Amino acid sequence: MNAPTPRENLQGLDLLAEIKRLKKERNAVILAHYYQKPEIQDLADFVGDSLELSKRAAETDADVIAFCGVKFMAETAKILSPQKTVILPDMAAGCSLEDACPPGKFKAFREAHPDHIALTYINCSAEVKALSDIIVTSSSAETILSKIPPEQKIIFGPDRHLGGYLSRKFNREMLLWPGVCIVHEAFSETELLKLKAQHPGVPVAAHPECPPHIIDHADYVGSTSGILQYAQTIKGDTLIVATEPHIIHQMEKAEPTKTFIGAPGADGNCACNICPYMALNTMEKLYLALRDLQPQIHLDETVRLAAKKSLDRMLEMASGTVGKGDLGRA
Ligand code: 13P
Ligand code: SF4
Repeated sequence: MNAPTPRENLQGLDLLAEIKRLKKERNAVILAHYYQKPEIQDLADFVGDSLELSKRAAETDADVIAFCGVKFMAETAKILSPQKTVILPDMAAGCSLEDACPPGKFKAFREAHPDHIALTYINCSAEVKALSDIIVTSSSAETILSKIPPEQKIIFGPDRHLGGYLSRKFNREMLLWPGVCIVHEAFSETELLKLKAQHPGVPVAAHPECPPHIIDHADYVGSTSGILQYAQTIKGDTLIVATEPHIIHQMEKAEPTKTFIGAPGADGNCACNICPYMALNTMEKLYLALRDLQPQIHLDETVRLAAKKSLDRMLEMASGTVGKGDLGRA
């Protein structure tokens, strides 16, 4: 996916200074996910994983939330803070998991399984959140699942790899929606094994959106925040990282003497593990979004209120899990 060129020629503009000026003028807060470009991570007020970003969005007293992430994240901010203006630098910044789960099909699936509750990964549309019972993120999923009685039947969507990972770890059957993250799906087991052979004894940290043939080689499995924390606790000086490689920017800032190697895709050095949706956000588009307060997230109020219920359940049930990398295994 190629990023569309900005609408205007902004050459000669000091974008960083302009973004800072507009941020003040608008009383805006800039939230960024770890998969954003380094220059965006560096100017953000807060960088975090999906759960931490949701909490920040719910708590901020800014008038404007500039969300440097993807659409479902900006929608989550709007669901939790409806009185605020939420802008996303590029409205085309979607997610393959959201695309894999159209609300109409999800509703029909739920109706076909009336004795199941829907435990739904936050990477989905506001409409799918509204059709769900409890939302989870990769850092809250395990805590939340452990609080659901064992006899309760569960639909888990839309990430079949995260669902499968939880199902195996908890030895608990769940009906899995067949969505995948195109980024984590792209890691190659063959190339990972070659890399491990070149770096004997070096641990692998993987995100649970990875397929089982990658997870099986991981020493640690967790959310982006969990992986970042793991990077700071390893005894050695090198780590293989099986998630979107822009997170390495924070690892290098926290641990400048350590080496972080991105896990390879199919041909060993393709850019297929870079999230094409996250990459749509640029400094230019962030500047324009703050200047024009566009593109802006708008939600139907009925959908928002129903989606808020399932998100609030997550925030209640997940309390205490932020930043603990709950999915981690030693
Ligand atoms: P977390 O940051 O919550 O681990 O999510 C990763 C991801 O793929 C976001 O789209
Ligand atoms: Fe979606 Fe995967 Fe990109 Fe995250 S990394 S936004 S799950 S496509």
